[in-house]
Amino acid sequence: MNKIPQSQILVIFGASGDLTHRKLIPSLFELFERKLLPDKFLIVGVSRTRLNTEEYRKSLHESIIGNGKTHVTDNPYLNAFLRNIYYISCNTTDGNAYSTLFDEIDQLRNAAGIDDNILFYLATPPVMYAVIPPFIQAQRQNTSPNGWRRIIIEKPYGSNETEARQLDRLLCGIFPEREIYRIDHFLGKETVQNILALRFANSIWEPLWNRNYIDHIEITASETLGVELRGGYYDSAGALRDMVQSHLMQIMAFIAMEPPSSFEPESIRNEISKVFRSLRPLSPADIERNTLRAQYTDGSLNGTKLPAYRNEPHVDKLSTTETFVALKLYIDNWRWADVPFYIYTGKRLAEKRSEVVIHFRSAPRTMFPGQCCGSSCNQLVITLQPDESIRLRFGLKQPGSNFEVEQVSMDFFYKSLATSRLPGAYERLLLDAMRGDALLYSRSDALELSWHFLMPLIEHWEKEKDEGLVFYPAGSPMPREVTRIHARPYLLKEAVCSPHKNENPL
Ligand code: BG6
Repeated sequence: MNKIPQSQILVIFGASGDLTHRKLIPSLFELFERKLLPDKFLIVGVSRTRLNTEEYRKSLHESIIGNGKTHVTDNPYLNAFLRNIYYISCNTTDGNAYSTLFDEIDQLRNAAGIDDNILFYLATPPVMYAVIPPFIQAQRQNTSPNGWRRIIIEKPYGSNETEARQLDRLLCGIFPEREIYRIDHFLGKETVQNILALRFANSIWEPLWNRNYIDHIEITASETLGVELRGGYYDSAGALRDMVQSHLMQIMAFIAMEPPSSFEPESIRNEISKVFRSLRPLSPADIERNTLRAQYTDGSLNGTKLPAYRNEPHVDKLSTTETFVALKLYIDNWRWADVPFYIYTGKRLAEKRSEVVIHFRSAPRTMFPGQCCGSSCNQLVITLQPDESIRLRFGLKQPGSNFEVEQVSMDFFYKSLATSRLPGAYERLLLDAMRGDALLYSRSDALELSWHFLMPLIEHWEKEKDEGLVFYPAGSPMPREVTRIHARPYLLKEAVCSPHKNENPL
């Protein structure tokens, strides 16, 4: 786990894009400042934009400062970091351009005395995922007799099951599976990794972690952001592909998986795939009863007026793309038989919050009037962001002469750890790929199984167009129709049960 990365070159395709500027380079700078990068390390940015290395470094300098990573513009670390970065302008759709590209990369590598290890990062539009690797192969740069080659692929990994399979077949014909790193940045979040520690480093949960004690589970990723400048991509993806197929299905697997035999990547990945294999297929009746899609109309949040999704840049004015999904699913195995898992995610909701709530069964008898607002007193709440925490909720008597039982909470907040600095997801994942540790990356079978499970829903929605699509004003807690799937989502129950907020937020 703690291997030091070997000397290597990171080649980023899509180097002038948003992901590189906002996430990759600031994360790499953080790793550099913390002295976690190899001593001999170069970053080579490749993209079509005509820039020279100096201009590119200058643009990255601004991004790092803009990202709040450092406020001192002449930070000596920053300048030293930037000196490791080079830029090569290249038309990556033209196979003939790759021989010059690799000659230049080779020269940089030799001059810096770096071993023949190259990590490719495809931070490009998804259409390039099937274009660039064959050109790399044509230059015989997909393997090396003197070192290694690895490739990181961003999501979306295909836009349906067939495309994901085709992409897999193509990539697996070029790189060995162990060198293909399919990134899901949610798995790099410290709190998501801690689901594994919470479950498998402690013995108190395991006896309870099953259908005998758990009533239902909710996984929520609620966002205040809209589609920003990504309307073009988002309008063809929607919330189901953008968030559920990847991030939320993976979190569900971390919660539902059996204890792995070891902490080795393959043991864990085997258990994740088993969860996906046990998903109860979505029948037409399930789709009718257990799923909901919605789209935001105009509204407001904290006093700011927000446009409707259909009026966002690059979005079709008649778009039927969902910006909110609610889904109830079942895992047909001994541990989870008939325990509903609810997944909700949406853009332009009232709050930014990603959370897993394990709802334990109610006590067999309700002995106390109004006990815990009329539902189970026991929940384990794992907040992935923003206030990263783990809270155990239970009922206790309120002080006084009555016997009123209200819910209290035993809380652990990550920020209370003296040494706490939660590394960003991309920091962790980049470092893992440099070290050759694929534990937090998705394996191809898991991705395909996740697509396979969701395809009936995707196809149904594509066929139905706007039939069944409902709308919610931007800034609302959730579409009110969500209660059709689940009478009391936890995100709303908080407000319903709080003594200070008695109004139903719906
Ligand atoms: C990305 C999605 O993968 O995750 C975005 O494409 C979404 O639409 C983002 O906003 C959420 O990530 P985070 O880390 O901000 O919760």
